[in-house]
Amino acid sequence: MKLLSNALLALLAVTAPGAQAAQYNGENRSHSPMLPKPVNAKWQQECSGCHLAFAPGLLPAASWRKIMSGLDHHFGADASLAAQDVTEITAFLEKNQANRWTSNAAPLRITEGKWFAAKHREIAPAVWQRASIKSANNCIACHRSADKGVFDEHQVSIPR
Ligand code: HEC
Ligand code: HEC
Repeated sequence: MKLLSNALLALLAVTAPGAQAAQYNGENRSHSPMLPKPVNAKWQQECSGCHLAFAPGLLPAASWRKIMSGLDHHFGADASLAAQDVTEITAFLEKNQANRWTSNAAPLRITEGKWFAAKHREIAPAVWQRASIKSANNCIACHRSADKGVFDEHQVSIPR
């Protein structure tokens, strides 16, 4: 079932009219940091329980709004929070949203981005599946300072 729905989603992503709008904007992306300082304490606390707290600069505001409005069915998990916390975290995410996406597309996954594919094109498909990595969204397996919003190539090391 999961495989089937993933395949369907992939198909939709290719064919939906708006989908092509999410593009890697490598030429003119600004160099503002993925993670501001200081970070919002609620975000740090509530969004790091199940995975790395993904830096706000990794998705556009529209994506964050979608994610934050569906926390009770968050990728198959219940990540719901008090309304007040949702408001506070959403504001933090929106304010520090991505500069890597060029359009009004609102993907739910960072890994769906063209920029993501472009930056990782040298990584063989089998590498993502290593037990030490498990999934492309496990940024910190390779980007050792991902929790600090640092993704530059000098702090990358791919585990065996
Ligand atoms: C109860 C556990 C849980 C909590 C708490 C949680 N998440 Fe998640 N999150 C998940 C799961 C499960 C996935 C899907 C992981 C996968 O498919 O590999 C996910 C995936 C994501 C993704 C997509 C990553 C990608 O590109 O594949 C984003 C973005 C995200 N979460 C944001 C948040 C934010 C923002 C918060 C805090 C408000 C949060 N999460 C809190 C469980 C959680
Ligand atoms: C399998 C290891 C691995 C995983 C997992 C991984 N990356 Fe990467 N990432 C790399 C490598 C290798 C590079 C290329 C470094 C280079 O430029 O030579 C890279 C490059 C990048 C760059 C470009 C850095 C720059 O200086 O231009 C960004 C941004 C990035 N990754 C973000 C992410 C995010 C966000 C995640 C999780 C959603 C992630 N990566 C998951 C290995 C990984």
